[in-house]
Amino acid sequence: MVYTTNVAFNTYSYFEYNRLENHIGGRMMMSDSLEATKDEPEIIASPRQDAESHCAAADYDRLYAQSLSDPDAFWSKQSERLDWMESPATIANWSYDPVDIKWFEDGVLNICHNAVDRHVAAGRGDITALIFEPDDPEGAGRTLSYAELLAEVIRMAGALKKLGVKKGDRVTIYMPMIVEGAVAMLACARIGAIHSVVFGGFSPDALAGRIEDCQSKFVVCADAGLRGGKPVPLKSNVDAALEKDGADVDAVLVINHTGSDIAMTEGRDHWYHEVAADVPTTCPCEPMGAEDPLFILYTSGSTGKPKGVLHTTGGYAVWVATTFHYVFDYKPGEVFWCSADIGWVTGHSYIVYGPLINGATEVMFEGVPNYPDHGRFWEVVAKHKVNIFYTAPTAIRALMREGDAPVKAHDRSSIRLLGTVGEPINPEAWRWYYDVVGEAKSPIIDTWWQTETGGVMITTLPGAHGMKPGSAGKPFFGIQPQLVDNEGAVLDGATDGNLCITASWPGQARSVYGDHERFIQTYFTTYKGKYFTGDGCRRDGDDYYWITGRVDDVINVSGHRMGTAEVESALVSHPKVAEAAVVGYPHDIKGQGIYCYVTLNAGEEADDAFTTELRNHVRTEIGPIATPDHLHFTPGLPKTRSGKIMRRILRKIAENDFGTLGDTSTLADPTVVDTLIDGRMNR
Ligand code: WTA
Repeated sequence: MVYTTNVAFNTYSYFEYNRLENHIGGRMMMSDSLEATKDEPEIIASPRQDAESHCAAADYDRLYAQSLSDPDAFWSKQSERLDWMESPATIANWSYDPVDIKWFEDGVLNICHNAVDRHVAAGRGDITALIFEPDDPEGAGRTLSYAELLAEVIRMAGALKKLGVKKGDRVTIYMPMIVEGAVAMLACARIGAIHSVVFGGFSPDALAGRIEDCQSKFVVCADAGLRGGKPVPLKSNVDAALEKDGADVDAVLVINHTGSDIAMTEGRDHWYHEVAADVPTTCPCEPMGAEDPLFILYTSGSTGKPKGVLHTTGGYAVWVATTFHYVFDYKPGEVFWCSADIGWVTGHSYIVYGPLINGATEVMFEGVPNYPDHGRFWEVVAKHKVNIFYTAPTAIRALMREGDAPVKAHDRSSIRLLGTVGEPINPEAWRWYYDVVGEAKSPIIDTWWQTETGGVMITTLPGAHGMKPGSAGKPFFGIQPQLVDNEGAVLDGATDGNLCITASWPGQARSVYGDHERFIQTYFTTYKGKYFTGDGCRRDGDDYYWITGRVDDVINVSGHRMGTAEVESALVSHPKVAEAAVVGYPHDIKGQGIYCYVTLNAGEEADDAFTTELRNHVRTEIGPIATPDHLHFTPGLPKTRSGKIMRRILRKIAENDFGTLGDTSTLADPTVVDTLIDGRMNR
């Protein structure tokens, strides 16, 4: 098979996946992949196929069938999970050509009311909503009931209003993992402002770009964050960001979290505790149309700067409410913990909105898995008697490397469900999570989804399905995955392909903020009439889906999405760099590492000091998560005669796979390849 279109097909089947255990995140052209093997991996029975589950096997089949045959009836029913100010009469109203997506369009609601107020109104105000676990295990923890959370949200909403925030305004939130981060999001939603949360690990430059792109006039930040005992200078990063042209705000609201010594700009910067000292004790929830914007979240794509993915109110609320209920199988009284950061979509959907809409009790953790030691996750599990734990494969792999002792040192008997998200989990890490962390008593749900999908799309459901290590499993209700080849031909049966979704679901992103054309180009143009996910996928003979990784120029580093173009643009912004090409390569812990080929301007030398300087330059431009793992200085890059860089060759060389470079005769200068291989081998 020869695939020639612009969508590079890089995938490897679960069979290879097992063989390439040490090459997680590795890429392989579709044409290299093995034929479907007859021996599908065994399905491991879920240890908890009990009657208490929200969804048993028969329910899944029935509900899934109904969700496809009568989506309006299905989603109308699910929408009853929410309180509406005006119930929606129209359920689905979408088109992928032209692209116009609406759900529940005539419904009116407020998601903050659904996540907070209604629980208090229904007499559940004393139930614990958030359990804050600080970075320092000896530090001050905090527990908030739903009633207390409501009071906090009203205070924050009052403070935002006092600063002039109005319905439809964009508010940038740049916070550590503290209660006020979630409170700020809920407060925005309460008054109809659109939040744009920027991960606290992003640099001032990256923050400035995101403030400018959505013309946000307000920033909410903390003086500093704490991660692994080290301060993160959030407020001074905001100051640096606001010095850039274009990032121009009216007000910065600063939460005093660490008591750091920071600069406050007169007239622009305000301490939260001062502004909130005299705000009203009530603040009505703004009635929001279901299609009114709820949030913007920037995410990386193949080209250009990060896109502001736009989610609206009603469909997103129904989607996260429904997926949280079924996927995490949450029961009243249980303690849920998602270890993500609110700066990513996982934090939006499964720390803030999904759990709170369901009235759950959850842990919010400020710290990192390895501080003060590698047992911290399990110490927190024991301390707060966590029942459902949701984390990323990269964390599992990093902890697995430290052995079983830090896990076994803590009581994990409360755990009954384990989840993963963000990247493919290699079977070895899956087994360790299952056997050592869960003692083979808790099902694992491997949840595949994206910023653009709003919530979980493919996963096994704990009471309905058996599991296969490394496979996400089955489509969630309403989701119709389709595998296509590079020409768009639909592939049936057990096969590898490009993963598309053929019909809209309520949680789908509606646009790219301020650039609907880019939304259409990115997701609906490669395969017309379908949503293209950018992921490669294999469907096996049991109809289980195996996500094999991105097929575009996006890499997944420790579960964080990064556009290779973004890193390239950071590299070439250094005055000594002439040209750069970035690819992912297999990395034992991170899944993929960042491999950068760099050509310097004539006369420049790449010594150790410069290598450090260039690394730091990328950290300054984007943030520590984009730090190059490998800098490979080369006099030239492999280009076709028309000047196009052949990334396929660069990926193979980065993977140390020199045997299958394929046809290099179309290169303008084929000797470049030998130079690159020499350079790789001498490292
Ligand atoms: C990858 C994170 C395999 C995938 C929620 C997707 C996964 C990208 C999984 C989205 C999984 C996410 N198995 N790959 N369970 N979950 N991915 O937008 O490549 O940060 O396209 O959303 O992560 O990353 P994003």
